[in-house]
Amino acid sequence: MTKAPSSSPRFEELRQLALAARKNAYCPYSGHQVGAAILLDDGSVHTGCNVENSSYGATLCAERVAVHAAVAQKGPKIRVKEVVVATDATPPWPPCGMCRQVVAEFQDNAVIHAVNPQGQIQTWKFEELLPNAFTPEFLSADSK
Ligand code: THU
Repeated sequence: MTKAPSSSPRFEELRQLALAARKNAYCPYSGHQVGAAILLDDGSVHTGCNVENSSYGATLCAERVAVHAAVAQKGPKIRVKEVVVATDATPPWPPCGMCRQVVAEFQDNAVIHAVNPQGQIQTWKFEELLPNAFTPEFLSADSK
């Protein structure tokens, strides 16, 4: 789990940004700081942290904040190539199901990493985390 992925030249930069982003988390209810850094196909990097809410269901995860920030800054055509999610947890947390679905909307063959400050790293292809995802193509293929 500790081996850095060799095929990813921006990984170390993303790992540092995700670890730093978690420090901005608003997490008075869970106490878990989560950070995310995403790399787009245009080379830009966008970050997010979890933002909880006293109405718990309104909580946003770090990955969704990062993806939505990227859309806000770069527009609706963004394509996500790589995601790093950082927590203090051991083992590090993979993205939750809702975040996988949000990434699915904007990814092509993305690589997803979970990391923690202790240096643990786990890496997946997106397809491994959410096989047979529901994507926009199903809506456009729907002939009724
Ligand atoms: N959380 C994330 O930010 N990303 C995930 O993929 C898993 C969970 C946050 C949501 C909540 O603020 C806290 O972690 C505990 O679930």
